[in-house]
Amino acid sequence: MDANSKQILSNQDGVHPNLEKTALRHLNSVFRKPVSKHTQAAFDVVSEAMTSSARPLILDSCCGVGDSSRVLARAYPSHWIVGVDKSGARLGREREEANPENLRLVRADLNDFFRLAANAGWRPERHYILYPNPWPKAEHLKRRWHGAPVFPDIIWLGGRLELRSNWRLYLEEFALALKLAGHTARVQAFDAKEPITPFEAKYKKSGQPLWQLTAVLS
Ligand SMILES: C[S@@+](CC[C@H](N)C(=O)[O-])C[C@H]1O[C@@H](n2cnc3c(N)ncnc32)[C@H](O)[C@@H]1O
Repeated sequence: MDANSKQILSNQDGVHPNLEKTALRHLNSVFRKPVSKHTQAAFDVVSEAMTSSARPLILDSCCGVGDSSRVLARAYPSHWIVGVDKSGARLGREREEANPENLRLVRADLNDFFRLAANAGWRPERHYILYPNPWPKAEHLKRRWHGAPVFPDIIWLGGRLELRSNWRLYLEEFALALKLAGHTARVQAFDAKEPITPFEAKYKKSGQPLWQLTAVLS
């Protein structure tokens, strides 16, 4: 990956003026859009696989090529690690390391997968969303996870939630949306000593500051 990745450019100079209204609307309503067949099928397959042994769960959402999922699978050998991404091309990218036995990589749309998981009672111990697409244009607020109708399901899943981004404002907005739901989050500078995802490695090489949000959603 190239080491001259561009800084985020946004036409927002602070928190989106509609953030509160948008997040509250979603927090106070039910997202009823039908679930896509391919995500339902993928969810059923991974749920079935996890019934083979009862283990705590770690969710790695927007896992891209799955490198962070493999790191987590090695760090937590007694857990299930489920990495989810909508891109089959990314998930299928060849890697030297074989997938550990406690890892499942799933191609699915998280707008549906989060709802299925929350409704099925999944309660990951840890939930990572590393370098989500920032959608920095103001008109794209609803594409950010905290501006999306599925945001309440991310909260409902619970656990220790961690997001990382090279755009601090994304995480500040996410923290504000969590606050509206009664949760406290911490946003701080993040020093990626050993990058665990391609985007983390690329931003670090480019000298961009990185940010981390953590929250315990019990
Ligand atoms: C900027 S990349 C980061 C990937 C990886 N976490 C990393 O740091 O290298 C964002 C990822 O989110 C995935 N993504 C975006 N929207 C998604 C959705 N609705 N469902 C599943 N994956 C999604 C994209 O396919 C992409 O791989």
